Amino acid sequence: MASPSKLQHLNVEKIRADFPVLDQEVRPGVPLVYLDSGATSQKPASVIEVMDRYYRTQNANIHRGVYKMAEQSTEDYEMARGKVAQFIGAAKPKEIVFTRNATESVNLVAYSWGRGNLNKGDVVVLTEMEHHANIVPWQMLAAEKGIRLEYIPVNDEGLLDMDALPGLLEMKPKLVSYTAMSNVMGTITPIAEITRMAKEVGAVTLIDGAQSVPHLPINVTELGVDFLVFSSHKMLGPTGLGVLYGREELLEAMPPFLGGGDMIKRVQLHEFSTNSVPHKFEAGTPAIAEVIGLGAAIDYLNAVGMDAIAAHDHELTEHALDRLAEVPGVWVFGPSAEHKSSNAAFTLKGAHPHDVAEILNREGVAVRAGHHCAMPVHEKFGVPATTRASFYLYNTKAEVDHFIEAIYKVKEIFG
Ligand code: ALA
Repeated sequence: MASPSKLQHLNVEKIRADFPVLDQEVRPGVPLVYLDSGATSQKPASVIEVMDRYYRTQNANIHRGVYKMAEQSTEDYEMARGKVAQFIGAAKPKEIVFTRNATESVNLVAYSWGRGNLNKGDVVVLTEMEHHANIVPWQMLAAEKGIRLEYIPVNDEGLLDMDALPGLLEMKPKLVSYTAMSNVMGTITPIAEITRMAKEVGAVTLIDGAQSVPHLPINVTELGVDFLVFSSHKMLGPTGLGVLYGREELLEAMPPFLGGGDMIKRVQLHEFSTNSVPHKFEAGTPAIAEVIGLGAAIDYLNAVGMDAIAAHDHELTEHALDRLAEVPGVWVFGPSAEHKSSNAAFTLKGAHPHDVAEILNREGVAVRAGHHCAMPVHEKFGVPATTRASFYLYNTKAEVDHFIEAIYKVKEIFG
């Protein structure tokens, strides 16, 4: 990551003014402190407005009509695909497939690529810090096809045990699928190194970028990764929309995932031929307004600058970790600030994580508590649940300080 000191600081007050939802009190005199962007980010007015304008002035289905509104919708939808491709450094817009969420993107790969390419005894390497979305689809495939799942362990510090990777790669895995950033600990994983090593043994690579793409710049072509999945709603865009990046050659060779309209070239009573990539994977009417909204979210992120966002998020995380370390009884999950960003999950001695979240809520602080859809990594550290604060470009150090003060109030209540 670029050094924060070399980067312009974000004008957070100006940014906050772009997010209408942030300007509210949870009850009189208690302003909202939104620290749950790991679950979903807030949306700037430009995203809300572009979707509003679409429905008010232009709503029409894409790839079908020849009238003006339909042509405009198709153009805007495909233009947004181009923005997504550019944002992650994809070689071509056709390498971008729109899905419902990052979870569906992983399922698409498991169903289409996995079913076609994995056979009994084949090894798939995951990591112990994966979100359930990058575990369960492979377990489902394991039950169906008898593939073997192996995991890169997480060490006591909350980092991937990279010493274990060469041994796992000796098993000649067909796929190595891993997160770029833990949704619980915020651990940033060495994606360039893992991708390079996995490719050396001929494995296909998939990166779960649901947490990292909103916060860290990425270039899939430079990395040489085969698949990248992420979600619109965690990067200022609307819900109900995910992205699958796939290398053209792989997408071309894969069978369709869902069958129906738009994914076909020709249908006869007993057979069909598939449309070209990426339409082959976009059956049915897609989330048109949402795709256009994601395009506006990307414009917003680009205007602020991903390097500046990465530096800001890292700085806030560092500040939160420093402040949490002062609080007796707090145990922060995962590595030191140097290796993480944006997510800080913790436990407080004597208080259940849900109670902590509930009392923080009384102080206006919105955080998530639970297993965060990552039970295995919680199990690894012997805790069933944690409370997680997550940060984004619109959060301030003052909000982090308010969050810390609120934890002291929780401590008062729990003695
Ligand atoms: N996967 C999202 C999270 O980590 C919902 O909170």
